[in-house]
Amino acid sequence: MDAMAEALAAAAAVDESRLWARQMAMAEIGATAKGGVNRAALSDEDRRARALMVEWAGDLGFEVATDSIANLYVRRPGRQADAAPVVTGSHLDSQPRGGKFDGAYGVIGGFEALEAIAQAGIETVRPIDVVAWTNEEGGRFQPGAMGSAVFAGVMRLEDQLGLVDSEGVTLEDALAETLASTPGLPCRPLGHPFAAYVEAHIEQGPRLENEGLTIGAVTGIQGIYWFTVEVSGDEAHAGTTPLRARRDALKAAVAMVSALEELMADESDTVRFTVGRFECHPGSPATVPGHAFFTIDFRHPDPDLIARISAQIAPTCEAHARGCTVTVRPIMEIPPLVFDPTLIDMVEGYAASLGHPVMRMPSGAGHDAGHINHLCRSGMIFVPCERGVSHNEAENATPADLAAGARTLAACLVDLANQE
Ligand code: GLV
Ligand code: MN
Ligand code: MN
Repeated sequence: MDAMAEALAAAAAVDESRLWARQMAMAEIGATAKGGVNRAALSDEDRRARALMVEWAGDLGFEVATDSIANLYVRRPGRQADAAPVVTGSHLDSQPRGGKFDGAYGVIGGFEALEAIAQAGIETVRPIDVVAWTNEEGGRFQPGAMGSAVFAGVMRLEDQLGLVDSEGVTLEDALAETLASTPGLPCRPLGHPFAAYVEAHIEQGPRLENEGLTIGAVTGIQGIYWFTVEVSGDEAHAGTTPLRARRDALKAAVAMVSALEELMADESDTVRFTVGRFECHPGSPATVPGHAFFTIDFRHPDPDLIARISAQIAPTCEAHARGCTVTVRPIMEIPPLVFDPTLIDMVEGYAASLGHPVMRMPSGAGHDAGHINHLCRSGMIFVPCERGVSHNEAENATPADLAAGARTLAACLVDLANQE
């Protein structure tokens, strides 16, 4: 068989109902009442999701390994055992009220591709790995995309161990518990070489569905910057303290958010500015809040604009501090990136060969592929999700679209794993 025929044979072995059954089995772990999932990184639910992946790998005789930040790898060996693997995957953690497909699809779709390649009897030159990256969402421990960032050397694990979640649990303890839940796995070095990386994901936006298309050949990811803002004033009696004498941290924080909203105003609706967490302490009706905290998620495709506006965030907050002290901390800076042109072409080419309508498109959401792109040529495959809804329990996708993505992925993986 020539290389393309072999890649298409792997795609043909993708089994839509097997893929869907695994999606639904995974969605039971951390299932929420409204049909979504809550699988915080390094939680019991995350550990159960990992255990399920290990069980599936064992059933098929695939090798399993981990690393010091608990990224979990499933390998189908290649003819050259020591060659750098071609890698696919995504994440099994979710937003607190997340959907069944964000992340889990990239892992399960990768697993389906691996099983299809095995079933088609294809021996690749290089090993193929499916990875579940640790803590992509950043809902429990900030920032997100941590497993891939630490793997790629963008972040140091030592600097993250002291992070605490809202219950006071450290990342170090949650990580140790998670690693202990998969005892005896070989531990791979961080940053070990990959030959290439391709991640499948639901689009998380409405474009594919609106255009009636099945596959997005992802061209790149817009820049994502995260900040935390701490505002400190004075706690005071709500009934007796004159307004002039107050240093009300909440009112200052509200003024800051309004001013930031103006700073980010954009007729073209390209800027993405979100305050996803907003806290006020001590949180008692009769006490003037002495402390406020909020997060900023700011995204844009233009590196100059994102850098210029980011530099104005701290001065804008300071200008609206109303006598309080304010500390703005950058906690994540992922500049906009462009994926490898050969991988964009490959995704587009195989999708078309398989008869799946395809277009090139950038990603509005962040993904682990953004960090892995520093290490090796990387790319992504998008499939549609219903009404573009994501980071929401109502997130949905069709079995047929998920299978189309897995077919395109299987073909790319075989092609890449047979390249020198
Ligand atoms: C990923 O979950 C993102 O926030 O873009
Ligand atoms: Mn995701
Ligand atoms: Mn997400």
